[in-house]
Amino acid sequence: MGLSNKELPKLGFLYLDYVLRFFDHSNFKGWPNKIETVTYHWGDDKDRFIAEVKRKKIDVLIGNVPATAYETFREIARELPHVRFIPSLDTQFSNKSKENVTRFAWKYNLPIPKTYIYYNRGKGDTFLKNTTYPKIVKRSYGPSNYGGYFVHKVDSYQEARELFDTKKYHPMYIQDFVPMEADIRVMLIGHKPVCAFWRRAPEGEWLTNTSQGGSMDYMNVPKSVLDLAVKVSKSANAEYWACDVAYGKDGKVRILECATAFAAFPYIRDWIGQYLMWSLSKGRFRKPHIPMFNWEELGKISPDLLRTMRHITFGEYNSSYDGAYFGKRKKMYGESEVYLHQLDSVYKMYNVKPRKFEEWPSEKWNYQDRFALKNLKSMKVPLLKKEEAPEITGDESAQLIEIGDEELEALLLSIKGLGKKKLSKILSRFNHAELINILEIEPRVLEDIKSIDEKLVKKILKAWNSYKKEFLLSSVN
Ligand SMILES: Nc1ncnc2c1ncn2[C@@H]1O[C@H](COP(=O)(O)OP(=O)(O)O)[C@@H](O)[C@H]1O
Ligand SMILES: [Mg+2]
Repeated sequence: MGLSNKELPKLGFLYLDYVLRFFDHSNFKGWPNKIETVTYHWGDDKDRFIAEVKRKKIDVLIGNVPATAYETFREIARELPHVRFIPSLDTQFSNKSKENVTRFAWKYNLPIPKTYIYYNRGKGDTFLKNTTYPKIVKRSYGPSNYGGYFVHKVDSYQEARELFDTKKYHPMYIQDFVPMEADIRVMLIGHKPVCAFWRRAPEGEWLTNTSQGGSMDYMNVPKSVLDLAVKVSKSANAEYWACDVAYGKDGKVRILECATAFAAFPYIRDWIGQYLMWSLSKGRFRKPHIPMFNWEELGKISPDLLRTMRHITFGEYNSSYDGAYFGKRKKMYGESEVYLHQLDSVYKMYNVKPRKFEEWPSEKWNYQDRFALKNLKSMKVPLLKKEEAPEITGDESAQLIEIGDEELEALLLSIKGLGKKKLSKILSRFNHAELINILEIEPRVLEDIKSIDEKLVKKILKAWNSYKKEFLLSSVN
């Protein structure tokens, strides 16, 4: 099984001058063919870059695009429709800015701190006058956004006003302050958590920044956090992903950040490389087995040593061999105790496939350039006239539609061209709740299933909408 050397897609690494390289050849150990390299030189380099990718006949371009090159690469990707970008530019939407993370979370009903975004400074100022404090103010977009350097807590209108008068942050990005225990970074490959750790603020501080004296540890990351991270990764259709989850003093979990670009030990980048080799070879290369909570053990190794460790592999659980750690070790997980190896089927490693549609086209979603501040030097900014910038605040959650399992199946089977075979394919991929979410939020995701095309999705949507109409009418009465 699997593709022969000749059938394998041609891979290329996407590099950018001055940007740290996430992958190199050593992460793709065992790939039999040459892996090309294409480097973006910034400035006026788009056309040359495109020509080089074409000349090298690259099928798959692997690598992260930094925030400041994101829009250019959306254009580049459009001009290379036959090249698969890993991660796709849609998946990397959240890399660009905090605003994008927020819009992504809003779309998929993912929990985040309540957020207010203003492109109109007059309106933003009115909001600041009338709101409650404390609030958090963040720079949404910039070349190096990390470690809380551009994150501020303000306790009054005066403080907020002063901040916006000195820092020219645009858009105005404001969040409710969430008192939290800690924040937790979860890294995932194929939607499976492969590493997770707590970051706690120093005593009496609110910023959970380890480079400023905070602490980190790998033990007992709660189920609710892992489950949220998986949901976020699935929503982004991410081959690999990192998610920062705030663990609130109220016990609730909320997303702070998520992206494909993050700092990771080399052994994690090896795992991603091996995962992609499996995925791109139709199973010729082995899918890496990465047991749940491995990080609790690897985290005991000194970071300096861990940084040098490469290509870490684990044997899989085998019932006839009872001496192994992952076979006999139990762990409290949610409400009950389970064997560690049982969790591998709860947190599956999925084969993430590319999508045919563009989810976040810049014509619609690049607010930053469409509503740029024309005069950054002075804060006397003219109000936007022609096209009003959209002000969306808070978390708008849609009304949940109720439908039983059987009823949903019957509804789908009533669609012409959708028989039992396709139905079982759909149900093996999405559970009930996920399916309803997809129908409501992004039905094009159904095209992830091989035998379902655009036309069929349209029919499914039509059936769903007429069901919904009846449901909403009956729930009003
Ligand atoms: N809404 C919030 N309420 C309380 N603390 C927050 C909030 N948002 C961020 N923080 C704190 O600030 C830190 C940095 O914020 P984050 O959004 O991750 O920005 P950065 O890009 O600088 O890492 C977080 O790790 C968290 O400790
Ligand atoms: Mg952060």
